[in-house]
Amino acid sequence: MPKSRVVFVCSGCGQESPKWQGKCPGCGEWNSLFEQTIAAVKATSLRRASTNAPQALSEVASTGHERIPLSMGEVSRVLGGGLVPGSLTLFGGEPGIGKSTLLLQVAAQTAESLKSPVLYVSGEETRPQIKIRAKRIGLRGEGLYLLNETDLDQIMAEMDKLSPALVVIDSIQTIYTNDIEMAPGGVSQVRECAARLVTWAKASQTPVLIAGHVTKDGAIAGPRLLEHIVDTVLYLEGEPFSSYRILRSVKNRYGSVNEVGIFEMKEDGLRQVDNPSEVFLSRDRQNTVGSAVVPVLEGSRPLLVEIQALTNMTSFGQPRRTANGLDFGRLLIITAVLSRRAYLKLGTQDVIASATGGLHVAEPAADLAAALAIASSYKNAPVDPQLVAIGEVGLSGEIRNVPQIERRLAEADRLGFRKALVPANARVKPPSTDFKLIPVRDIRQALREGLTAADQEEPEVETGQGLF
Ligand code: TYD
Ligand code: MG
Repeated sequence: MPKSRVVFVCSGCGQESPKWQGKCPGCGEWNSLFEQTIAAVKATSLRRASTNAPQALSEVASTGHERIPLSMGEVSRVLGGGLVPGSLTLFGGEPGIGKSTLLLQVAAQTAESLKSPVLYVSGEETRPQIKIRAKRIGLRGEGLYLLNETDLDQIMAEMDKLSPALVVIDSIQTIYTNDIEMAPGGVSQVRECAARLVTWAKASQTPVLIAGHVTKDGAIAGPRLLEHIVDTVLYLEGEPFSSYRILRSVKNRYGSVNEVGIFEMKEDGLRQVDNPSEVFLSRDRQNTVGSAVVPVLEGSRPLLVEIQALTNMTSFGQPRRTANGLDFGRLLIITAVLSRRAYLKLGTQDVIASATGGLHVAEPAADLAAALAIASSYKNAPVDPQLVAIGEVGLSGEIRNVPQIERRLAEADRLGFRKALVPANARVKPPSTDFKLIPVRDIRQALREGLTAADQEEPEVETGQGLF
């Protein structure tokens, strides 16, 4: 009988080490190794799922791998066109973001469309609680079976008994196997449970979806740990105060990564957003002082985003910069370039910049729109409402090229914009005959072209003497 052993496991990346170390040799994280006792485990190996003899590629049957389409097109899209039989997909996200809601919707709709049983295992909510949620979302749930269980061996026994078309496990952190002496959610538990589910999925050719909580500090078994094991990793993300959620694929053995699906959390569950660009633009673009639009790319999908800025004379102390939904480092660079290369006196101004709609824009392609919005607010000169701005701002004030400009322009054209500032060295054609491209070399030229002439003199902005 093999003996149990003690190892030290990194909570971030799952690296094992025979002795304690301050720094994880795998991921370099400090103070992340924890002692764990591993009982004599019946090692789960992927090998068991397949026959061992080599087989010529030409003779390998490719049937049985037709994807299962989902009625939520946005989820299908992120998966690369539907669920692959025998695949294990991780739905990661912060607690409360909407993983359970989305998985319940997918489970119920799949049961209905395939007319075969789907098993939804929850270690977090009781059956009546799930029923209430399903009612609220308006799911009839025909063919959907609920199971409250956290012991993986029991769960797998039920999975074998029901032989469902799809299994959902909510969440990987709540299930455990008795073969590992450790609380659910621990690194070894999570890894072993996921490995067994992979084996089961491959052997039964059933797709399995698992929810996984991800906390920012990665204190519990981190997502990187599971990423190695599962076939597909999707993250559900969203800004705290926005009802929009983005489902993003970060690993996909059966499709392209960086696909996104966009949803809105409503009273009755998550609804897919059919025309996302319209969502992130404000309805009324009459007053465009301090506001510029940029088509950013989310995966391969262009989205129009409005960047807003407000400059205000610093009332005391150091001028402050605040970025919401934008990269703070990039905002510092853009304000510095505007001060030095376009001679805006931002040294005495607080600058607040934000991306509207709750999207996080990290792309350098949004630099020019941010610069335009800041300059527009400072000069009190509106940005042409028909215009989008695309380009990265370099340190010497040059406007640098960015990828896939044509795609971005096509989206701007589709939503009724008629002009675009583009980097001068981008060799692009306008998306339609009445769309005007304005190539710009540097930031000063971009401001001249992008801001309407009215009111270009610099106003002396006084701060009010109010309470704040
Ligand atoms: P949930 O799916 O439980 O999140 P997770 O499983 O990722 O922890 O979603 C929780 C939030 O979603 C909760 O704060 C309430 C909100 N919500 C709605 O706004 N509408 C709905 O129809 C549902 C079911 C939840
Ligand atoms: Mg949940």
